[in-house]
Amino acid sequence: MVKNPIKIADPKAENKLLLKDFKFSVENFINSDNYVNHDYIKKLEETWAAFTGLKHVCFVSNGTVALQLAYNVALRRLHANHEPVALLIPENTYHADLSAITWAGYAKGINNKIYAYDYKLGYETNNILYNEVSETKIIFNVTHLYGIPIPEHFITKTKNNLLKSDFKKRSIVIVEDCSHAHYSKVPLVGDICVWSCYPTKVLGALGNAGIIATNDDELAFYIKMLINQGEAPGIRYNPMVYGTNARGDALQAMFILEKLKHKDRVIQHRRSIVEQYESLSYSNKVTTLVNNDTTCYYVYPITVSSNKIRDQVKSELAKQQIETGIYYPVKMSNIANKLANLPSSGSFQGDNLLCLPVHLGMTTEDACQIRHALLPILDRLGR
Ligand SMILES: Cc1ncc(COP(=O)(O)O)c(C=O)c1O
Repeated sequence: MVKNPIKIADPKAENKLLLKDFKFSVENFINSDNYVNHDYIKKLEETWAAFTGLKHVCFVSNGTVALQLAYNVALRRLHANHEPVALLIPENTYHADLSAITWAGYAKGINNKIYAYDYKLGYETNNILYNEVSETKIIFNVTHLYGIPIPEHFITKTKNNLLKSDFKKRSIVIVEDCSHAHYSKVPLVGDICVWSCYPTKVLGALGNAGIIATNDDELAFYIKMLINQGEAPGIRYNPMVYGTNARGDALQAMFILEKLKHKDRVIQHRRSIVEQYESLSYSNKVTTLVNNDTTCYYVYPITVSSNKIRDQVKSELAKQQIETGIYYPVKMSNIANKLANLPSSGSFQGDNLLCLPVHLGMTTEDACQIRHALLPILDRLGR
């Protein structure tokens, strides 16, 4: 049993460390009398652009809205109403991606098809990416789950293969979901990149917040209009498209800016926790997905030999006050069939996965204790 309960995420503990800085900035904010368009937003967008190297960065209300905007402009580019569009999506991901594309109008198209893939199976064995996609219009979602980057060569190889796999003229838009991967070295090869800044994320706000970014001028032009009631810059009350209000909250931008000042300390702390887990990979009882080349600061995923053992491990750790997470328990192909009534085909290797906590509210000793708690449980359960 650990001394204090360890949660899978602990935004309260993290935010309390910055209470003084937050208080000072909130006071400035209140006195500014500019609550919607406060400079905090522009400053965050500029900081993010410098940080990622992406040209157009927009701070928006949350990660799901960022995805809705991304799919809306992707479908606009692919002229979705005229031809079927294939969606390639990881079988194991958060269902916000599926909901978002449906909200953006995807399910209305006839003959749209979802292909669920698993990049861990490797490129050549991933039949879906290799052989099966027959549509000429494709949206390719890549999500860097757990903060572990999907290798860039996997993404570009898949894209190139899809482009040259027959004589039809194909168009692909890549939507890259980096919500788990703040600070990780992700490829950022997406036509559009999206971050959720939900409070539990590595760079979480203190409420809902999200970011959408692109290097593509045309996509950026539409994204910016959609965020702001469909109005082009400087032209009020005469919208060019049906838009929405997806503007991010200035106070949340401020919280994120304050947190960015402590980036190095946060990475170092999370890294030292991950190091405690790394020796698990020498045990023959678990497989870790993290290798030395990858950076992972969100949660620490391990796999065991079966679904049943995974659930037993989870409940035994819970008895010792250690919370773990299952990201995610339901396959995308099942959700696609249920929610959107869209046909899908999929392959999946991630059923036995369990995530261990990595955050500022825990110490390296906590991580060491988790490791010591885990191994005897696995011994007993027979791996
Ligand atoms: C991978 C991924 N995509 C999208 C989202 C949706 O973001 P939000 O909760 O900010 O709407 C999340 C949030 O948990 C996520 O983990």
